[in-house]
Order: sequence, then structure tokens, then C-alpha cells
Amino acid sequence: MFKWRENYSCNIEEIDKQHKKLLEIGSELSSLIRTRDVDHYDEIIQLLDELKKYTIYHFQTEEELMEKYGYVGLADHKKVHQNFIDKIKEVDIKDIDENQKGVTMDILVFIADWIEKHILKVDHMYKDFLNEKGVY
Ligand SMILES: [Fe+2]
Ligand SMILES: [Fe+2]
Repeated sequence: MFKWRENYSCNIEEIDKQHKKLLEIGSELSSLIRTRDVDHYDEIIQLLDELKKYTIYHFQTEEELMEKYGYVGLADHKKVHQNFIDKIKEVDIKDIDENQKGVTMDILVFIADWIEKHILKVDHMYKDFLNEKGVY
């Protein structure tokens, strides 16, 4: 989970950097909940918050790039981003307090799976387009 793979690359330096950072935050969260019998509630909440904020920042970067170069798939890509933001905003802090490991693990599996599929299927759709515009 949350491991960078070369085939994730969009061949755009800033985007790859941001994807790596997202995976890093996810990876920190997953090692936190693997630590046994210690209450990590505050750290989990803080990292989840960081993940949400960084995700929003990353989506903005992508959307601005697509907009700048007139990418036709922008509206659809934006919808997919918004959908994900809505989902991670729904995460209930109360649930995490009551069942830290179970809930956080479920969230992490969902996020890891989403990031992988999104990079490979959706982000990769703008890759060639932006590369051809000279964006690397
Ligand atoms: Fe992305
Ligand atoms: Fe994206």
C-alpha cells in the first residue's frame, strides 16, 4: 500500500512529486495504525487532515494545468476529484475514536486503492496531452 511505482509516473516533475507526497502521507498513516496498543488518535486525526488538505492542493494543481492548456477532459476530471474530496470529508472523527484501527484501515484501503486507480487511469489520460504541450 502507498508505495510509489515507476509506472505511476505522469512524466511531469511537479505532478510526480505531489503524487509521491500523497503516498508518503498515506504510508505514515498506515505505519501509525500498525503500531500496537498505543493511542495514536491525535496523530491519526492530524495526518488525515494533512492528507485532505494536500489532496485538495494537488487537485488544484492538476486542474490549473489542464485548464491552462485547454485539456478537453477537464470537466470530467474535475468531477472525479470533487467526488473523492466529498468522500474523504465524510470520514467521521467520532468513528475513529471508537474503533481506531478498524476504521482507519478501512479508510486507508479505500484511499490507497483510489489513488492507484486514479493515477493510472485518469491522470494518465492527460499525460501525453500535456507532454506534447511541452509540460514535463
Ligand atoms: Fe493526481
Ligand atoms: Fe487527478
